[in-house]
Amino acid sequence: MTQQKTILRALAGETLPTPPIWMMRQAGRYLPEYRATRAEAGDFLKLCYNPELAAEVTLQPIRRYGFDAAILFADILLLPQALGADLWFVTGEGPRLSTITEQSDFDKLSGKEDIHETLNPIYETVRILRRELPEETTLIGFAGMPWTVATYMIAGQGTKDQGPAHALKAENRPLFEAVMDRLTEGTIEYLSKQIEAGAEVVKLFDSWAGSLKGEDFQKYAVEPARVITSELKKRHPGIPVIGFPREAGEGYIGFAKQTGVDCVALDNSVSAEWAAANVQVDGCVQGNLKSSHMVTGGQALVDEARAIVDAFKNGPHIFNLGHGITPDADPENVQLMIDTVRSCG
Ligand code: CP3
Repeated sequence: MTQQKTILRALAGETLPTPPIWMMRQAGRYLPEYRATRAEAGDFLKLCYNPELAAEVTLQPIRRYGFDAAILFADILLLPQALGADLWFVTGEGPRLSTITEQSDFDKLSGKEDIHETLNPIYETVRILRRELPEETTLIGFAGMPWTVATYMIAGQGTKDQGPAHALKAENRPLFEAVMDRLTEGTIEYLSKQIEAGAEVVKLFDSWAGSLKGEDFQKYAVEPARVITSELKKRHPGIPVIGFPREAGEGYIGFAKQTGVDCVALDNSVSAEWAAANVQVDGCVQGNLKSSHMVTGGQALVDEARAIVDAFKNGPHIFNLGHGITPDADPENVQLMIDTVRSCG
């Protein structure tokens, strides 16, 4: 069968004349239609667990801009919730969870086989999306990587330096590794169900990979990505996987080879020229325009977007931001980015 969808062609290693494009957090607070649906749902978590409304917000940026991919609307912290952690969001501050500081906190969690009861609405969102998305649009499922999710589960909230997770790793390695293992198993089951429901690609978000150094990066970022990717590919032959070890720096080099991911997503700490020479040599890359351009716009956005397309033009590339779009972004700047990228090549 010939592969028509541009995102899938790039993930298969094809160099396209114009890179396909989507955007992290493309369904989000910068869009008035998102804010309206979120208000209708009540709050963010209710929106995540309401398949009709979650599908609706996933579709909004596709209708408005015609992105080449849609990303399932959900959150990386739904998995810990499905494993039995308490989860809530404090407006203007971010997520809060019950903490893990001792063995008894871990013993209260449920096993990987129990997650689907909570996560079934997410799989229903995926099924609705596969019916409703335009034929040319690729549906991306996702999960957080064990380290990143563990940093929230251990601390009970977002932290600047992931201090509590590093401390548990240093002081009670068996408990830390038990959390990592439970998350690794749970992530495989969660993503496997998303794929069965119709996700055509999965993305692994390791937002805090950059705080793992040396051997820790190998053990807790590379190795879980390898295990999750190889198990998913065993169960679902051919499923493309995008890895996002954010701020990995030198850790980006060889990441695709070591883990088996089909594409490496790049953050803004690396230049496109460096990444073309050091990362794209192994296959598809995704990225990496600064999200601040979505706030400021203008000629700087146009110049920078063109420079990124140019740097990656000799290999497979999916255009994206280096991190999620922020609520203060101007929707018109998103259109300017898309027009710029699509007029290249
Ligand atoms: O990209 C997408 O549009 C798909 C949906 C998605 C969300 N979160 C929706 C969301 C994805 C892929 C995520 C990933 C996620 N969630 C990550 C990894 C990527 C990253 O940003 O580093 C992390 C660390 C989380 C955890 C999380 N969720 C935090 C820390 C916050 C609060 C910060 C914030 O931006 O408000 C969230 C909330 C969240 N997740 C929102 C959205 C659209 C905003 C919620 C709202 O509407 O109030």
